[in-house]
Amino acid sequence: MNRLPDGFLVAIEGLDGAGKTTLAQALVERLEKEGFLVLLTRQPGGTSFGEKIRRLLHDAEKRPVPLAEYLLFAADRAEHMETTVLPALREGKIVISDRMSDSSLAYQGYGSGVDKDFIGLVNAKALQGRKADLTIYVRLAPEAVQTRIGARGKEKTSFEREHGLFFARVAEGFDMLYREPRSNLCVLDAMLAPTVLAEQAYAALDALLHKQLHESRDR
Ligand code: TMP
Repeated sequence: MNRLPDGFLVAIEGLDGAGKTTLAQALVERLEKEGFLVLLTRQPGGTSFGEKIRRLLHDAEKRPVPLAEYLLFAADRAEHMETTVLPALREGKIVISDRMSDSSLAYQGYGSGVDKDFIGLVNAKALQGRKADLTIYVRLAPEAVQTRIGARGKEKTSFEREHGLFFARVAEGFDMLYREPRSNLCVLDAMLAPTVLAEQAYAALDALLHKQLHESRDR
């Protein structure tokens, strides 16, 4: 087993319908084959309390006011971090989170107008200062969101029923957040085939994991 002393936290971000969940599952399979201990989880959700918040938000006939909505995501995040993510990282696991704090900046900050500095402060508190070791942004054009969601044939969530302008603002938010290249950011084109997306994401992850494994051996 490959155990990382401080664990490794991966956040997968992007618009609804970008293919994050399929990508997360493919990464888990590959990492397990390579002998890593992995936890696949998500925000909102990932804890029994969080799954209730997820249902509350998804099933709402009408979305609550933006600040109330954000605070619910923040409550989910705080519970998720304390009870699920940090313990798994302490066990040396690779934690793959299907969405994390940047979703709040993009959806509630850029999309719905909640103060982004406030979101940044509360997010940092909820995450107890821990940041993602790698963020994978699966970039989808906002115009493609409704087609992708429609193709699933499932009942739409309160977010998925949003209009194109909202998704355009969220997309702009993600693009702003990820405009500067950095070593712990991997931007992928959602239009690529799922297998190619998984290959590219794994290559980025593999490089960082090996760097961390080497550093921990040298300590
Ligand atoms: P998903 O997990 O199926 O992508 O659904 C989660 C929905 O919640 C999605 O529409 C994005 C939204 N969301 C926010 O608006 N803010 C957040 O902080 C998070 C984590 C998700």
